[in-house]
Amino acid sequence: MRASSANPLCLLSFLLFSALLYRPTFAAKRSYVVYLGAHSHGSEVSLTDLDRARDTHYDFLGSCLGSKDKAKDAIFYSYTRHINGFAAILEDEEAIRLAKNPKVASVFLNRGRKLHTTRSWDFMGLENNGVIPSGSIWKKARFGENIIIGNLDTGVWPESKSFSDEGMGPIPSKWKGVCQNGADASFHCNRKLVGARYFNKGYASIVGHLNSTYDSPRDHEGHGSHTLSTAGGNFVSDANVFGYGNGTAKGGSPNARVAAYKVCFPPVNGNECFDADILAAFDMAIQDGVDVLSVSLGGDAVPFFNDSVAIGSFHAVKHGIAVVCSAGNSGPEDGTVSNVAAWQITVGASTMDRQFPSYAILGNKMRFKGESLSFKALPRNKFFPIMSSLEAKAAHADPTDAQLCKAGSLDRVKAKGKILVCLRGDNARVDKGQEAALAGAVGMVLANNDLSGNEIIADPHVFPATHITYSDGLAVFRYLNSTKTPMAYITHPSTQLDTKPAPFMAAFSSKGPNTITPEILKPDITAPGVSIIAAYTESQGPTNQDFDTRRVQYNCVSGTSMSCPHVSGIVGLLKTLHPDWSPAAIRSAIMTTARTRDNEVKPMTNASHLKATPFSYGAGHVQPNRAMDPGLVYDLKTTDYLDLMCALGYTKPQIEKFSETPYKCPTKNISLTDFNYPSITVPNLNGSITVTRTVKNVGSPATYMAQVFKLAGVSVVVRPKTLTFNKIGEEKSFKVILKSKKGSVANDYVFGQLKWSDGKHYVRSPIVVKTI
Ligand SMILES: *[C@@H]1O[C@H](CO)[C@@H](O)[C@H](O)[C@H]1NC(C)=O
Ligand SMILES: *[C@@H]1O[C@H](CO)[C@@H](O)[C@H](O)[C@H]1NC(C)=O
Ligand SMILES: *[C@@H]1O[C@H](CO)[C@@H](O)[C@H](O)[C@H]1NC(C)=O
Ligand SMILES: *[C@@H]1O[C@H](CO)[C@@H](O)[C@H](O)[C@H]1NC(C)=O
Ligand SMILES: *[C@@H]1O[C@H](CO)[C@@H](O)[C@H](O)[C@H]1NC(C)=O
Ligand SMILES: *[C@@H]1O[C@H](CO)[C@@H](O)[C@H](O)[C@H]1NC(C)=O
Ligand SMILES: *[C@@H]1O[C@H](CO)[C@@H](O)[C@H](O)[C@H]1NC(C)=O
Repeated sequence: MRASSANPLCLLSFLLFSALLYRPTFAAKRSYVVYLGAHSHGSEVSLTDLDRARDTHYDFLGSCLGSKDKAKDAIFYSYTRHINGFAAILEDEEAIRLAKNPKVASVFLNRGRKLHTTRSWDFMGLENNGVIPSGSIWKKARFGENIIIGNLDTGVWPESKSFSDEGMGPIPSKWKGVCQNGADASFHCNRKLVGARYFNKGYASIVGHLNSTYDSPRDHEGHGSHTLSTAGGNFVSDANVFGYGNGTAKGGSPNARVAAYKVCFPPVNGNECFDADILAAFDMAIQDGVDVLSVSLGGDAVPFFNDSVAIGSFHAVKHGIAVVCSAGNSGPEDGTVSNVAAWQITVGASTMDRQFPSYAILGNKMRFKGESLSFKALPRNKFFPIMSSLEAKAAHADPTDAQLCKAGSLDRVKAKGKILVCLRGDNARVDKGQEAALAGAVGMVLANNDLSGNEIIADPHVFPATHITYSDGLAVFRYLNSTKTPMAYITHPSTQLDTKPAPFMAAFSSKGPNTITPEILKPDITAPGVSIIAAYTESQGPTNQDFDTRRVQYNCVSGTSMSCPHVSGIVGLLKTLHPDWSPAAIRSAIMTTARTRDNEVKPMTNASHLKATPFSYGAGHVQPNRAMDPGLVYDLKTTDYLDLMCALGYTKPQIEKFSETPYKCPTKNISLTDFNYPSITVPNLNGSITVTRTVKNVGSPATYMAQVFKLAGVSVVVRPKTLTFNKIGEEKSFKVILKSKKGSVANDYVFGQLKWSDGKHYVRSPIVVKTI
């Protein structure tokens, strides 16, 4: 998915969807997913089981349509392995009728979703200038050896050095996947890239016939290669973008094996990944034997039974596969977070301590630090006339378009030889540069709007350009107004490390509260997602625009799509160290060891340099070296998720279908606030509430003491205050009593923290409360 004000293709990524974009091409036949729950055959699926399951789908739909042949024509996917269901072209009335059938869990439209080097591991303490300290999780977890990470995305560029198998041992015997190269004979897998598949029938059901170029897992877009190499790419020295950020590229689990599941194709109405394909990929990846799934795509938050990513993730988690998802790039507004299910690990995006500064220097000697990856530079110390792009407006153009430097909005005579100041928003940042360059400008200063604040992004602009903050932009405009002959120049970008403050939250990172289940805080965690260098496709240029004929092996991209695979790589390391931990235990370890302060030891801020909250960062910024030894974990089992769904009001028959094994809703609903999550959220505190949690000891025997960081207007008491554990695996419960104090502000969220410590471990949970 890519950020709104940002370049849709370059540089902000998380693949989103908006409802109702698809109109039927004729009458009312549309592409639907029919979800039937789980299969009754066990995990060891035989070919006969698969055939039988497919035949059951034909019989079932046939009985509804009046003929098995009609059903065979209508069905384009049968989900036969773990997820039970099918995707089919149906009339709306048929879909409505099917939804009422007691065998059906849900029926939903096959809708689209959006796609949402290396310094980042240094920033998180896994290495220090290329030296790996003894305490690094990399050493302890053998760089994620023999873990298999799957990625649902735009595919992979198999020739990238990040996926070379030099020095890798044989493929782990647990791997059952294949290299489905379809019509692309040049596509190959190896002992690093152990598998690749493509799923395009759901996409085809929307766009019509696809030619053979779609029958390949090859990444023609760059997004999938970038995310997969961030999660599990191996060590590649000399990786850089036009010389900037030069260093050794590597993924979080550099010794892991990786597999690409291509589910995203060129956008139709802004969406590139479709539900029917996403479900098919999940079903296959579970069967193939992945350990971790990385999913940098999503849509608006919808109820779980209509959400292919939520359904697919549920089945994966049930099989012990941790699923890591991007939070989305729809920030900084509240309530924008997607991938909000309690079984997903949801990741926001923040900055790290590296910048690519390129200064805008004005005739009055004022200097503004922007960022850029422009390869072309202006001559040193030579001033050029500078003006607002509005002054270069083409006669026929809309003034707002000219301010935003939209295609065709600028006048060639007026812009020629000038540095133009363009505003961020609407069209892609690199497209603004392209328009200014086409109009004959010599450079561009791209100024943020109020919403994007201090979040500036280093883009591989096609000509000399730099991106500055909102407040610096205002100062530049004041200067333009103050003189008749404004002049400026732009310095060549450089690479700067140890910048402060870092991390701070990216403005584009989607925020809580969770609109589907307000009791579950989302996102869970934040990780680096701004100006990340990783592998790219060589079938498009670094800006992904047709005008960009350059080709790069590594590219710098930003988005929650980029932060998600950082956590996927870290999950791979944790799985190597703790193969018996559940996905929930792994998430808990990541969350309770996160930090909420930046490298100036001040509370982490947002892109306006104001204090950020758990609605932006969840539990905080991931600290991988701490996550390997969390002390205690908040664990969850599949039945806990089913109990949660009962309490959320999903119908019993629906929930019972989710489970392969017999399951019944509890006679009394669980309280949503008692769900054993590593964060505590009470969205409707009326007087007082008692919240229960259970922690499991995963360290040595120890006594933990509770400490609470106060919430404004709410008192917090923990009972008992100490917990003693005598052995590994021992569980203890405690209660947190929250009471609104007299005079507390109603209808406003307040934030605090609960910390358990034995003097060695710090097990932190955010507390989020709204008083009604
Ligand atoms: C799920 O999708 C179906 C089919 O599009 C729709 O009728 C139904 O209202 C959706 N359910 C929810 C809870 O959004
Ligand atoms: C397949 O279709 C794409 C876009 O629809 C087009 O760019 C490409 O040239 C076509 N390839 C072949 C082999 O026809
Ligand atoms: C990148 O760094 C390597 C190792 O320090 C060096 O050999 C190489 O020349 C550098 N490349 C660029 C483009 O700066
Ligand atoms: C600069 O002048 C223009 C036109 O007079 C005005 O709209 C704008 O607000 C001024 N900008 C600043 C920062 O003073
Ligand atoms: C930062 O937080 C403040 C206070 O909550 C808010 O007003 C502002 O819009 C936020 N800025 C960004 C860019 O998120
Ligand atoms: C559990 O809660 C749901 C949603 O509020 C409700 O529909 C259901 O009847 C409840 N079940 C029990 C056993 O109380
Ligand atoms: C809050 O609790 C009081 C006392 O139990 C009750 O009368 C009131 O209706 C509750 N308010 C809401 C909004 O639920």
